[in-house]
Amino acid sequence: MTEPPVHKPLLDVLNGKRQAVPPVWLMRQAGRYLPEYQAVRKTAGSVLDLCFTPKLAAEVTLQPIRRFGFDGAILFSDILVIPHALGRSVRFTAGEGPQLEPLNEPSAIAALTPRADPAVLAPIYETIRLVKSALPKSVTFLGFCGGPWTVATYMIAGHGTPDQAPARLFAYRHPATFARLLDVLTDASVEYLANQLEAGVDAVQIFDTWAGVLPPDEFARWCIMPTQKIVTALRERMPSVKIIGFPRGAGSNMMRYLETVGVDAIGLDWMVDLAFARDAIQKRKPVQGNLDPLALLAGGDALDRSVDAIVAALAGGPFIFNLGHGILPPTPIAHVEQMLKRVRG
Ligand code: CP3
Repeated sequence: MTEPPVHKPLLDVLNGKRQAVPPVWLMRQAGRYLPEYQAVRKTAGSVLDLCFTPKLAAEVTLQPIRRFGFDGAILFSDILVIPHALGRSVRFTAGEGPQLEPLNEPSAIAALTPRADPAVLAPIYETIRLVKSALPKSVTFLGFCGGPWTVATYMIAGHGTPDQAPARLFAYRHPATFARLLDVLTDASVEYLANQLEAGVDAVQIFDTWAGVLPPDEFARWCIMPTQKIVTALRERMPSVKIIGFPRGAGSNMMRYLETVGVDAIGLDWMVDLAFARDAIQKRKPVQGNLDPLALLAGGDALDRSVDAIVAALAGGPFIFNLGHGILPPTPIAHVEQMLKRVRG
C-alpha cells in the first residue's frame, strides 16, 4: 500500500488554497536571535563559510523548524553569494553588515564575468539535499535569491546605505552599463534558482529589499523588468514552479509589480495597509506578511494587537503569516512563541 500524500499547508497557499490555520514562517528565521545559531556560527568562521559548509548550513536551516515547528524552512544562504560567485570580494563584518569591493567604474562592469562560477555555488545545492532528507514532509522548503536591483545596490556601493543612493545615481549616469550589470545578475539568478529547485526546494522567494527607494519609471526598469525575466525564464524550464515576490517598500508601485511580474504570491512589508492588502492584492494573489519586526521585538499587547489585526484582515483568503521584514537579532524567543500561539489559536 502506498502512503497517503502528506500535504504542505504553505505550498497549498501558494497554489491559491486558503488554510483554516494560516501557515507561518519568518524572514531571517535562522539567525542571531537563536542561541543554537550563535553556537554554530562561532564554529563556522564567517557568514560565507557558513553558507558554503553544507552540514552547518543544513543544521541552521533546521534549527528554527525544530524549535518552533514553522510551516516553512528557508535555505540558509545569503543574497550576496551571487556577487561572490561572480568573482567579487564579499565579507561580512560583525555589526557593520556586508562589505564588498565597490563596483563603481563603468569599465569594471563591462569587464565583469558574464557567468557565476557554478563550482562556488555547488555546496549550496548539497545543503538543500541534506535539509530535504531531514525535513518533516509537511514543511515547505523555500529557496531564494535577491532581486537583481537589490544585489546591484550592494555591489555598486560596496555596503548597505540608508537609501542606496550610490546605485540610484550610477543608474541615472550610466543606464546602459547598469542594465548590463542587471542582465548578468538576472541570468545568474535564473540559474541559481533553477538549481535550487532541482536540488529539492519546493518554492522560491525573490527578496527585493531595496525596491522601495525607486521612483516609478526606475521601479519598472530596475525592479519589475529583471524580476519578470527571472519568473518567465524559470517557468519556461519548470512550469509548475511557485514564486513569492517581496518588493519591500513598493508602496503605490505594488499594483504594477503584481500585474506585470507574474509571481504566484506577494510578500507584504509592514507598511502595507491591511484593507488595501486584502481588497487590492489578495483578491488577485495569495499574500504573505506583514507583522512589523519591531512589534515582535516589543511583545506584550502591541504584539497581540498587531497579530490580531493581520489575521482578521487576511486569514479569510490564501494567506501565509510572516514578518514584514527580517527578524531582529535582539528579539526574545518568548515573543516568537507568543506570536505563534496567537496565530495558531
Ligand atoms: O533565515 C534566513 O532567512 C536565513 C537566510 C538568509 C540570510 N540572508 C542569512 C544571513 C536570507 C534569506 C538572507 C537574505 C538577505 N541578505 C537579504 C534580503 C532580506 C533582507 O533581510 O532584507 C539581504 C539584503 C542580505 C544581505 C545581508 N546579509 C545583510 C544586509 C547582512 C547584515 C545584516 C545582518 O542582519 O547582520 C547579512 C548577513 C546575514 N545573512 C546574517 C544572516 C543570518 C547575519 C550574519 C551573522 O550571523 O552575523
